[in-house]
Amino acid sequence: MIARSAAINVMTGAARKAARGLLRDFGEVEQLQVSKKGPGDFVSAADLRVEKLLRQELQKARPDYGFLLEESGAVEGNDRHNVWIVDPLDGTTNFLHGIPHFAISIGLVRDGEPIAGVVYQPLTDEMFWAEKGNGSFVNERRLRVSGRRKMDEAVIATGIPHQGRPEHQRYMRQLPVVMNATAGIRRFGSAALDLAYVAAGRCEAFWENGLKPWDIAAGIILVKEAGGYVSEIDGGHDMLQSGNILAANDHLHLPLGTLLRSVD
Ligand code: IPD
Ligand code: CA
Ligand code: CA
Repeated sequence: MIARSAAINVMTGAARKAARGLLRDFGEVEQLQVSKKGPGDFVSAADLRVEKLLRQELQKARPDYGFLLEESGAVEGNDRHNVWIVDPLDGTTNFLHGIPHFAISIGLVRDGEPIAGVVYQPLTDEMFWAEKGNGSFVNERRLRVSGRRKMDEAVIATGIPHQGRPEHQRYMRQLPVVMNATAGIRRFGSAALDLAYVAAGRCEAFWENGLKPWDIAAGIILVKEAGGYVSEIDGGHDMLQSGNILAANDHLHLPLGTLLRSVD
């Protein structure tokens, strides 16, 4: 049995509790697909319910910590150092379409740095968790980024900008250089899980532009603690601010960064 800190227990407990409702709602969404109105409003309400529950649970355990919540925004705490960064449903478009790939993401950021993270995929019951200095895990199993060194064997996760999102032109420059160098690109639809998959060695790397702190706070620590590298695409380290992120195993972070920067 792996020892977990009190903070990790709080985070995993909150995620598990909130996931029950999310799973019920996912079942409902599948029914709503065929209705005229569609599941849009229902999913927004589900999203809010999950966020409320997560907030309650985290606040109960750490009453002084602040919050950055996707749906409700920033909530200042008495403790100015610690902030929970929460995405109640990452992969909303998948959820809305009945595609079984979405997660709850909870990051704990101390003085601007992610120090603990949980990404929970309820449909597979995979609890990805990590804490600074203590490693990265899925359920009881320790994670390590993949050992692949060759770009032409690498599978790369990404997020493709869609209608209403910026940076389409930038992405259209980035895509061909990565496409031409690697074994395959995947657009799974949940940035939090993309990062968890890099930590788990399922993909060699992940890049996306214009993400929000709640998409990546937990995933950043997952990748780092699994031995991977995370930076901005330009090589900087302000990912939470800029939202431009490149996460990869230790072998491919540099060559991929060089490729992406060559078209920036
Ligand atoms: C989205 C997902 C998606 C990414 C988008 C995010 P949401 O979050 O993480 O994979 O490409 O940029 O906005 O809206 O499902 O919470
Ligand atoms: Ca998200
Ligand atoms: Ca979300």
